Amino acid sequence: MLLRCFIAIALACQAVAAQAQSPGQVSTVPWQATEPERLYQHPEGRRHLDLSGPWQVLVDPLSAGDRPSFTGLGGVEVYKAQPAPTGLAFAEFVFNAGKTLQVPADWGRQDPRLDLYEGPVWYLKRLDLQPDDGLARILHVGAANYRTDVYVNGIAVARHEGGFTPFSVDLTRYLKAGTNALVLKVDNRLDALTVPTRFSDWHNHGGITGPVRLLELPERRLVSWAIRLADLATREIVLDVEATSQAAGQLVTVSLADVGEQAQARIGPDGRARLVWRTRAALWSPASPALHRLQLSIAGGENVTDTIGLRTITARNGDLFLNGERLILRGISSHAVSTRHAGRAVGTADARQLLGEVKALGGNFVRLAHYPHDEAVVREADRMGVLVWSELPVYWAVAFESPDALTNVRRQARAMVERDRNRASIILWSVANETPNTPARLAFLKEVAADVRGLDQSRLLTAALLVDTAKSAPLLARTLAGRLLQDRALPEGERSRLAAWFEKATGAPATPDRINAAAAPPVFRIEDPLADVLDVAALNEYFGWYYASFLARMVPADEGRLAAAILALMPDVRFVPPAGKPFVVSEFGADARAGLAGGAGRMFTEAYQAEVYRRQLAMLAAHPGIDGVSPWVLQDFRSPLRPYPGVQDGYNRKGLIDETGRRKQAFKVLRDAYRKGWPQR
Ligand code: GCU
Repeated sequence: MLLRCFIAIALACQAVAAQAQSPGQVSTVPWQATEPERLYQHPEGRRHLDLSGPWQVLVDPLSAGDRPSFTGLGGVEVYKAQPAPTGLAFAEFVFNAGKTLQVPADWGRQDPRLDLYEGPVWYLKRLDLQPDDGLARILHVGAANYRTDVYVNGIAVARHEGGFTPFSVDLTRYLKAGTNALVLKVDNRLDALTVPTRFSDWHNHGGITGPVRLLELPERRLVSWAIRLADLATREIVLDVEATSQAAGQLVTVSLADVGEQAQARIGPDGRARLVWRTRAALWSPASPALHRLQLSIAGGENVTDTIGLRTITARNGDLFLNGERLILRGISSHAVSTRHAGRAVGTADARQLLGEVKALGGNFVRLAHYPHDEAVVREADRMGVLVWSELPVYWAVAFESPDALTNVRRQARAMVERDRNRASIILWSVANETPNTPARLAFLKEVAADVRGLDQSRLLTAALLVDTAKSAPLLARTLAGRLLQDRALPEGERSRLAAWFEKATGAPATPDRINAAAAPPVFRIEDPLADVLDVAALNEYFGWYYASFLARMVPADEGRLAAAILALMPDVRFVPPAGKPFVVSEFGADARAGLAGGAGRMFTEAYQAEVYRRQLAMLAAHPGIDGVSPWVLQDFRSPLRPYPGVQDGYNRKGLIDETGRRKQAFKVLRDAYRKGWPQR
């Protein structure tokens, strides 16, 4: 009998192991809700218990903790958070005070064994509460990568998908007097249907990566509010408030305390109210990041204080305007990483480090790629006066045909906008990065763009686009062939092979006139139909880095010679952005291993990276109508796509600083350009 039992267990475990490989599998637990409800804004400014700090954890690579019985002896039901066994009691899947992880912080940063781990980790926080005070208790999670299941006292309450945006879950009806078990199952596994997908150029840092709070709010409370300077000339402010239905009929009062302005409105039956007034408040800008204390109070209900800035950002005739004045974006792109520690950046100290480097560059702008960063960064950007591009993780080949992926992105877009739409520093919402130009992608992103515009009329929409490789590669190839054939020093053997290729590629003899015509400055058109949906056209281009190795597979010429020809060509390169839209180059760059020996004649050296920056900045400064640039990237960051042992070692090294904070030569090149007022010469 016993032997049969062990065989049954072994077979069951084998079956479980096979099934457990599919990320995002559906738990068999009965769920109260499949997606958290409305997001509550500004948790840190409202009455709450701060749940940051140590949480007990259980690493569960086969996701056994919420599966049906796999032993024939009943499931292990980790979410019930049973106490650790004593005496002759038996249990294995139990939390134990000895094993904890800090929240917020990704798990790889805390335990080297979890650095490459992709799977579920169960988190437990026991809460001693007296919840009979009539307050609603709402869990607010700043971010958890990637899927989160929320359990309270063994009840499956809600599931959330999305690794970078906050979510709220009302726990009130599940809590009891005394000790409550709050369990979060966080699973960082990605696949072809998640957003982002598993194939992306950054490390998939798993865990609870944003602050966790338990809001304790009266029934007449605010859910969401949006303030904007609706008219620069008249200084008219529009403030839209959303409160709970219990607040319907009550007066809501708003004041800008430091300028002594106040307005009132009665909350409608739908819980909403709009307040409009004209203000004398100072405007926000990078040069003068004026902030004001916004106080919101509901009669007999909640009072909230927030800090906001007022400004307008507009696009007109292909230019950008901040508060009606022409704006040039001198920026840098950045992942949510810090030189202060490994893993995901989180909190104010990391935010100050990142934004401090932007300021040190003489920049006024940061592209927070490729997903919403921690809320502390955008709040600090308000304080420090740094303009922000905020982006959804619609990166590369997302499952644009999948209705579930669209629902997921629409939720992430709503959370991104609702969390940050009161931050003056944010001027651009980006809906995508380098996505394939297909009908399904266009339809998908049109929906997302419409949602974002519906939630926020006070900012501009953008996305990082590419030129059409099918057209640009042959054009660049012919141009380079022409330039190389013009070079009398070209060895005869290469010349004849190249001339033969040229005649085949152009369908005509390689006469001097045709060679000179081909060698003319190339013009690359941005013809992506997605640009029609956007207010600002942004382009990622890597002249000086990727193209020579790609073209060397097309053109019979030495790769080094092609690379040198591209560098020589750069001052003449021109892009044609969509007519009438501001034009920003959202990425250019080159890898450099800090301290790697070898001058500008070797890839991956600081000297070569610096040379690419000099040429790119000159090329773009000469570009008519350029409105900004955010080179790739502020800091070296972890990526599974950058193996090159001894040079990359699992890092994308296009940073101007490395992961230790060491500044590379290119940092100075960009700083000098910005300090001289780039793009002015
Ligand atoms: C792409 C992409 C980045 C990537 C970069 C690179 O444009 O947007 O996420 O890291 O290029 O190749 O380094």
